[in-house]
Amino acid sequence: MNAGHGILGRRLFATMTSTPKRVPIPKHGVDYRNTIVLAPMVRSGECPSRLLALKYGADLVWGPETIDKALIGTTRHVNPITNTIDFTRLSSNGAKNPALSHDQRESIIYRLHPEKEGKRLIYQIGTSNPETAVQAAKLVAPDVAGIDVNAGCPKPFSTLGGMGAALLKTPEKLCRILKALVEEVGEPHEIGISVKIRILDTPEATKDLVTQLCDTGITGLTVHCRTTPMRPRERAIRDQLRMVADVCREAGVACLMNGDVTSRDEALGLMSEFGADGAMIATAAETNPSVFRPKYEGGEAPWDEVVKEYITTALEVENRFGNAKYLLGQMIPGKLPIYKAMTSAKSYTDIVKTLGHEIELGAMAADVDQRLEIGSFEKPKLTKAERKAATKAAAKQAELSKDTPQLVTAAGIKRKADAAQLDMPPDIAQEQAPASVPERASVLSI
Ligand SMILES: Cc1cc2nc3c(=O)[nH]c(=O)nc-3n(C[C@H](O)[C@H](O)[C@H](O)COP(=O)(O)O)c2cc1C
Repeated sequence: MNAGHGILGRRLFATMTSTPKRVPIPKHGVDYRNTIVLAPMVRSGECPSRLLALKYGADLVWGPETIDKALIGTTRHVNPITNTIDFTRLSSNGAKNPALSHDQRESIIYRLHPEKEGKRLIYQIGTSNPETAVQAAKLVAPDVAGIDVNAGCPKPFSTLGGMGAALLKTPEKLCRILKALVEEVGEPHEIGISVKIRILDTPEATKDLVTQLCDTGITGLTVHCRTTPMRPRERAIRDQLRMVADVCREAGVACLMNGDVTSRDEALGLMSEFGADGAMIATAAETNPSVFRPKYEGGEAPWDEVVKEYITTALEVENRFGNAKYLLGQMIPGKLPIYKAMTSAKSYTDIVKTLGHEIELGAMAADVDQRLEIGSFEKPKLTKAERKAATKAAAKQAELSKDTPQLVTAAGIKRKADAAQLDMPPDIAQEQAPASVPERASVLSI
């Protein structure tokens, strides 16, 4: 073509020859383009769920939203039994001084498997403040491929704190958070920062918001195609999707679509129909993570096959039993008698027996039960008076061993931190931590 035909010709020539703009993907980050990913899900997106999604072909996985304040103050441990990295804190269970409490526990606030998911894991943060967001994100940045800000949760526990969907109403604050994360976490650690939003009431308002967000240095944006008041059972609205994808493309930011995407094959069709760079799947993957497997590799697997894989993975990473049981409740069809039997299980041993996998998984289940102190390994509960006495003894021991960094158990036995880590009790307290709250999750409609 002749590029000398006036300004119009030059513009056309420039358009035809220029490569599309792309925000550079940092060295340790990942490009969300051409990916079908597991959505962030409180409770349903814990370590074994993510590992299973990856096994069945998810390209990337999001961890459950974890609030910045829950992560700040945690200690990073490498767990040699499960090969996971655990961010833990001493839980107080209401005690004034948790270090002296008889029932102190190491609560796992966040667990990841560096070898199997590290380079494909995105940490989702709940925050309403640039300083605390940066402080928390710095702790996990070396272990993940990206940090994503949750700006879509409509539940009061999130919005009342100015987090989640409340950030959609304070775009300047959301942009400050993203810019701070880009400059103080993304750049030094060479990982990407992204955001997950919902659509607003009008295309104009959404366009204005997305334009501002794309100007913060983020590498990716997920749009959940529902407005904040919409319930999960209401069909996703895709009217604004092409516009959002276009704004992102113009700015060089990858755009993931979310909302009622149910399989990899469907995702590919929707991406090409609406111009999105990738797609995110939540509830369909919660019920059956094999939705990530393409048809030509077998497509969706039967529930019993997936359930067996899930139990095996949950045992490998010694997942909290309550969480594993909850997930099984999503995967096993509710109308089957086996579902009811599963709900009364008190240990992994019970579960593998109920589901008929005793021969292959029985020994492993018993080992994990023992380490988690559940089922027949559950310790007898202390009476109130015994608890008081044990706390007193622990305080006394702590006073005696002030100079040595040891943990003092209820029985007054001193354990070095390493030993305590190998012998973690069931993580009940995490269920009460803001990072992963079951009663919230059970009514969640983010
Ligand atoms: C159990 C559950 C937990 C969720 N937790 C989160 C979360 O932590 N962060 C978030 O941004 N969205 C969360 N969501 C919303 C999903 O990521 C997703 O946006 C929504 O379910 C729509 O996708 P879907 O139609 O594929 O289910 C959650 C959804 C469910 C069902």
